Amino acid sequence: MKILAIESSCDETAAAVVQDGTQILSNVIYTQIALHQQYGGVVPEIASRKHIENISAVIDRAVSESKTTLADMDAIAVTYGPGLVGALLVGVSTAKALAFALEKPLVPVHHIKGHICANYLENPDFKPPFLCLVASGGHSHIVLVKDYTDYQVLARTRDDAAGEAFDKVSRVLGLGYPGGPAIQKKAKEGNPNAIHFPRVNMGEHGFDFSFSGVKTAVINYLHNAEQKNLAINPADVAASFQEAVVDVLSEHLLCCAKEQGVSRIALAGGVAANQALRERISEKARANHMKFQYPRPELCTDNAAMIGCAAYFEYQNGVRADMSLNAVASVSL
Ligand code: KG4
Ligand code: ZN
Repeated sequence: MKILAIESSCDETAAAVVQDGTQILSNVIYTQIALHQQYGGVVPEIASRKHIENISAVIDRAVSESKTTLADMDAIAVTYGPGLVGALLVGVSTAKALAFALEKPLVPVHHIKGHICANYLENPDFKPPFLCLVASGGHSHIVLVKDYTDYQVLARTRDDAAGEAFDKVSRVLGLGYPGGPAIQKKAKEGNPNAIHFPRVNMGEHGFDFSFSGVKTAVINYLHNAEQKNLAINPADVAASFQEAVVDVLSEHLLCCAKEQGVSRIALAGGVAANQALRERISEKARANHMKFQYPRPELCTDNAAMIGCAAYFEYQNGVRADMSLNAVASVSL
């Protein structure tokens, strides 16, 4: 079964052809990062306009690189939410037009399910059930993946997402957008134990996250140093901030897995590309005899292959959309 998948929820215009759920025939990503960098973050209006300009060419390339034709597709899949509504609408409208014109089924995909399914693209032998930490620019969830289409959110962030904290801290350090890769690079030159930034534990509220405190602590640290004319070492700040976030993400995931009696854990979302996070969770998983899976970096950040994979399982489960499909900015799993 061949699925043409489209993803346009944020600042990547992406299309992919995926066969039988896990075989990537093509995976084309047009990233708008360079365009948004000058503003220090994604400008929604600009993102929508760029999606409109590029989506047809991206789809054409995905189809030609897959050595198939549009007529060979068994279904058209698209991310319908969550995300920037204007950006999502470009993908949704294009997918609807293609499904209508080609008389193919239309499969709506939840963006976070796509991120989780990237693990099956990386390793088709990795199967549910497992516990997945989804950490991206907009979300920080711990999700119990009971089956390919059955998800239960066990923890979420109370304020900022982990990726959002990386992006904001990067901005105040003058390291640019996107913050995750910039902080990771700077942190390599620094001491992760140089500054103690707070780790928020929710206590009785279980494994929920809160990252606004650590972000504010970094901002306060920098303001204080500036006022007192103290020298700061940006590499130490980056390394210490990353250490605080990695501590919390890894600790919550492992503790939640133990509480649930789950011995298989996974990562998903842009922050899952973080090397320090992967290494820390690998160590903890090994010490606790847990199987640990994560996608390669290009499958962690936004792409359409993950949407094609999730669509395959949704399709098998009977999920279809009609021409009334709309983009939804915020939608639960
Ligand atoms: O999943 P994604 O591409 O888009 C959303 O769905 O949000 O995630 C983007 C987020 C950004 O906040 C970016 O800074 C973060 O993922 N990110 C990273 C790394 N690469 C991307 N965060 C930490 N370390 C990285 N290496
Ligand atoms: Zn994403």
